[in-house]
Amino acid sequence: MKSRILQKARKYEAEAEKQISIEERPVFHLSPRTGWMNDPNGFVYFEGKYHLFYQYYPYGTFWGPMHWGHAVSEDLVHWEYLPAALAPDSKNDKEGCFSGCGVVTDDGRLALVYTGVRKMGKNISDKSKNVQIQCLAMSKDAEGIDFEKNSFAVIESEQVPQGCSIEDFRDPKVVRTEDGSFLLYAVNKNEEGKGQVLAYKSKDLKKWDYCGCVLKNVSGPGVMWECPDLFTLDGKAVLMMSAQEIEQSEDLDPGSVGVCLIGNYDKAAHKFTHEKTIQVDRGLDFYAQQTVQAPDGRHIMIGWLQNWDICNYRIKNTKWFGQMSFPREIKIEKDLLIQQPAREIEQFWKNKKEIKALKLFEGKQVLSEINGNCLDLTIVVRKYDSEMSYFAVNLFEGNGHFARVYYDFRNAKAGVGRSHAGVKNALLSERSCAYKPEENELKIRIIVDRFSVEAFFGEGELAMSMCIYDEKCGSGVSVEALGSAEIDVLGYEIS
Ligand code: FRU
Repeated sequence: MKSRILQKARKYEAEAEKQISIEERPVFHLSPRTGWMNDPNGFVYFEGKYHLFYQYYPYGTFWGPMHWGHAVSEDLVHWEYLPAALAPDSKNDKEGCFSGCGVVTDDGRLALVYTGVRKMGKNISDKSKNVQIQCLAMSKDAEGIDFEKNSFAVIESEQVPQGCSIEDFRDPKVVRTEDGSFLLYAVNKNEEGKGQVLAYKSKDLKKWDYCGCVLKNVSGPGVMWECPDLFTLDGKAVLMMSAQEIEQSEDLDPGSVGVCLIGNYDKAAHKFTHEKTIQVDRGLDFYAQQTVQAPDGRHIMIGWLQNWDICNYRIKNTKWFGQMSFPREIKIEKDLLIQQPAREIEQFWKNKKEIKALKLFEGKQVLSEINGNCLDLTIVVRKYDSEMSYFAVNLFEGNGHFARVYYDFRNAKAGVGRSHAGVKNALLSERSCAYKPEENELKIRIIVDRFSVEAFFGEGELAMSMCIYDEKCGSGVSVEALGSAEIDVLGYEIS
């Protein structure tokens, strides 16, 4: 039986979706069916399709009581909405169905493991406080559309180690182990008020035993952690998560940031030792990334193309807010996280345009052959003279507005900026970071989709993304230089 709360959400979203024309949405980035979206949840390959759930509040474009929205795709490019999967309708999640994951069981069912938020129990003095517990919902049909919630929470507050927070205990990610059982990683706030990742083991997804603390935040990154994801990639143990209250350093930008820790994982002791910290995306908007392994073995990562510190800004009368990044293939090479747009995008390349050895002079040159705001561009800058100090690609150009991806040769910094793209508030609208191109050749791949820009420098060793909220932007593309060089441009429209 579907609860009234879920039925109401499903009815509402089906109607509200009709009010949003396809022109008002991104073309190949997932946006909420209606209302608000934050973290990707339950990213899983099930019965021939990628399922992507998301933190969802259908009734408004701001964060509210969390539901799980649901979409499926066969190609990671085009998504089809399915009815909302979870609503805050049971005693264990009345205050919200927070982030979690999807896992396929041996009997072919899709299990959603998520954080339920509920008021504290009777015997706890401050009843107004919320606790976070881990919950389970199992698919009831072969397509994974309707889910049945387990009557009891599968990891209760009592299973949190002594002295650690029961209010901050969330975002379970479940993986299968070699012996067929399940391992769950969740974040928790420790005795010092900082993040840690806890591990639990189960044979049936219902009874979980605590195995230990995988990693405790001793010297960063940030303070509290969210959304852990632990896996092996190219022979390295990788712990991805998102960290809050980061302070600026050479390698990390301040605020809430998606991070990737590379190190070693002792499976028997459930201990992660951490050698290197990488910010997943050095642009303005990227958080709460989650990965899935594709049937062909590729690791695909998707993130929320937003940032908690600036997500309260939006263009007037928007009917949806929040979008996902384009799914990215990830690799570890020479201790670097390498990211590229999932190759599935190539099936949708249209109108190939190639410009070879274009001479760049001081100033701006419009690339008149390339136009649009759904593009996949690769630009290679070569033969730069010693005076070459700056190169920029301007996107969405028109009416004096544009967004920009650039490289500052003098200071060896890559950057993205949207200060001329309709921003009317004192928001963060520019970010740059240290970057050295390989072998006197600067290569940038940029994917553009109406409301966003994702830039990949070199082979993908640096990703920088940002959302664009511009009511007046155009569709022109130009390049700009200080100094002279030669460029090759390869551009496709995406549809
Ligand atoms: C991360 C997060 C999660 C939480 C969810 C709530 O962005 O704060 O930790 O489960 O969002 O919507």
